[in-house]
Amino acid sequence: MNEIGTTAQEALEFVKAIPPAQGETMRGVPLEPRDLVRVGFIGVGGRGSGQLGEMLAVEGAQVTAVSDVVEAHALRAKERVEQAGQPTPAVEPQWERLCERDDVDLVCVCSPWDWHVPHAVCAMECSKHAAVEVPAATTLTDCWRLVDTSERMRKHCLILENCCYEYAKMLVLNMIRAGLLGTITHGEAAYIHDLRSLLLADGGEGLWRREPHKLRNGNLYPTHGLGPVARYMDIHTGDRFTQLVSMSSASVSLGQYRDATLPADSPKRKETYSCGDMNLSLMQTALGRTIMLQHDVATPRPDSRINLIQGTKGTFCDYPPRLFIDGQTGHDWQPLDAFKAEYEHPIWKEQGELARKLGGHGGMDFIMNYRLIQLYRQGQPPDMDAYDAAAWSAPVPLSDISVAWGNLPLPFPDFTRDHWQEPLAAAAGGRAATALRCSP
Ligand SMILES: NC(=O)c1ccc[n+]([C@@H]2O[C@H](COP(=O)([O-])OP(=O)(O)OC[C@H]3O[C@@H](n4cnc5c(N)ncnc54)[C@H](O)[C@@H]3O)[C@@H](O)[C@H]2O)c1
Repeated sequence: MNEIGTTAQEALEFVKAIPPAQGETMRGVPLEPRDLVRVGFIGVGGRGSGQLGEMLAVEGAQVTAVSDVVEAHALRAKERVEQAGQPTPAVEPQWERLCERDDVDLVCVCSPWDWHVPHAVCAMECSKHAAVEVPAATTLTDCWRLVDTSERMRKHCLILENCCYEYAKMLVLNMIRAGLLGTITHGEAAYIHDLRSLLLADGGEGLWRREPHKLRNGNLYPTHGLGPVARYMDIHTGDRFTQLVSMSSASVSLGQYRDATLPADSPKRKETYSCGDMNLSLMQTALGRTIMLQHDVATPRPDSRINLIQGTKGTFCDYPPRLFIDGQTGHDWQPLDAFKAEYEHPIWKEQGELARKLGGHGGMDFIMNYRLIQLYRQGQPPDMDAYDAAAWSAPVPLSDISVAWGNLPLPFPDFTRDHWQEPLAAAAGGRAATALRCSP
């Protein structure tokens, strides 16, 4: 469905429409405790292979089934499971069969963007929890589908946002919880990563990730930047996104790079890219906080997710990680070192050595998987749920709609349907709220 509509008013009405709920909220609903969590993987290409390796290192997780449309990828994944000393997993050529299996509790979806929602919905409809790569969905209709299916099937749909588990992010989260940055007022987040050669490649993500650059003009990949900032701001445990307005620069870099690097007869030379090199979105929250969100995967510049968070007593900014605390001597940023002993997150204290050895994105990939399986085994709610998956992914369609209608300010859908003010403890009927919060 074209969500941009034929008039700005039509687009606005579409964004505002909240579909009727199909079940009670899933906020804070605990996972059913179990000693062994049996995991199935759909999509074991570049990211799926990495995720599989990290999951295989987590105590209490067993990979029981794999599925990929490319048989060689599925067989490679099967061998990897065997090499890790686990029983031979089932190889299911059809992903629906993987979802139906009795020996799968959790389905990890690491397929291309357009497949995330069909895969996750099928998993939940087969009574499995779904863990979905980023962005979880790329249309508002599909954001709602994830939420509605989760509520109807009483199964979680969580987003595999590994950046929330980065060492500095978790340390800073602890500092924020302890009040060191005061009242949080503003954040900045980005995905700035030169992907020109990857986008134009003849394999891997080059097979599908360039397509939206031809069809859309907005922020195609918001969650790596936005997820950690949402955690800092207690989004869905006391605050929520309320507005978004977006603006894009001209679309130049990808086309110029293509013309400079590919032969004149390459079919890619006929493509037209609509997505602006830089997309800038401004967001606001119910508590009056502001967020600047950027996306640029086509400009030659160093990578950054920015990750700035500021409050009445100080500011953190990443890449490199640095802090400014009110009352400190001098006007310069200071490194995090002085805060590590007191605020290093307990999971990193406990699992950091193994995480760094495994190496996935500096260790955060293992920490994410470890944390997910730990919460599952203990019967606690997951750190992220379908509401987070939907809200962190929704800037994809919202930015596209806003840009299409001349930077139209849009209301941000409340995917929780008014359950955003409850701390997880209340939503879970009194269960201890531990989501990414556990201070020592
Ligand atoms: N969190 C991160 O740090 C991170 C990093 C890279 C990619 N990703 C995300 O991971 C996902 C996959 O990206 P990737 O780099 O692995 O892409 P990829 O192209 O390397 O792998 C995708 C895999 O899915 C398979 N596939 C395609 N259609 C399928 C279908 N209908 N059913 C089953 N399998 C199918 C492909 O054969 C391939 O093996 C994307 O959502 C991407 O955004 C996340």
